[in-house]
Amino acid sequence: MTQDEMKKAAGWAALNYVKPDTIVGVGTGSTVNHFIDALATMKGQIQGAVSSSVASTEKLKQLGIEVFDSNEVDGLDVYVDGADEINAQRDMIKGGGAALTREKIVAAMSKTFVCIVDGTKAVDVLGKFPLPVEVIPMARSYVARELVKLGGTPEYRQGVVTDNGNIILDVHNLSIINPKELEDKINALAGVVTVGLFAHRGADVVITGTPEGAKIEE
Ligand code: A5P
Repeated sequence: MTQDEMKKAAGWAALNYVKPDTIVGVGTGSTVNHFIDALATMKGQIQGAVSSSVASTEKLKQLGIEVFDSNEVDGLDVYVDGADEINAQRDMIKGGGAALTREKIVAAMSKTFVCIVDGTKAVDVLGKFPLPVEVIPMARSYVARELVKLGGTPEYRQGVVTDNGNIILDVHNLSIINPKELEDKINALAGVVTVGLFAHRGADVVITGTPEGAKIEE
């Protein structure tokens, strides 16, 4: 089974968490793209979706799923999204696709976060995947210096502007022993919009695509 086939198994299994007549929170990435394909098979049974990125919005609309503005809805029953790394406590690193801020907002609005991954995303300690931080452009150098003080090696993601008009610093060489504490420290830096650590709002359900099919942990 290829990595993409494992992503597909996870994406389609997440359909079991979608309730009829609801608005579904939809994340971003190649695993979520499989979920969106699956969601299209029940488009007549759901009201629509709230999306975490321009890319997912376009795909949802192409498949005939209505996309709502997040300000138009009171809350969401379920949010389905991928991750770049996830640990046993279900803390995650996200933002490989630069959509971390909107992902954090939609996750915060949702009762249940269903994380869909292939087996390569599971780690003991977060940090091998460079931690994305979305930063207001004028704060780039200041925030980079502060991230060095926190033990990381930030790298400016060249040529990338987020959906919100900001830049991304990818922080290398971190071994994140206390994800909640690091999330707080980075969020507190002036000029940081969002850090891609999802520890305070981690996943509730993890669906892992494996060669044997989708493994579900509730
Ligand atoms: C997007 O910004 C990320 O948080 C994605 O959820 C993450 O990069 C997972 O992407 P894949 O499903 O493409 O591996």
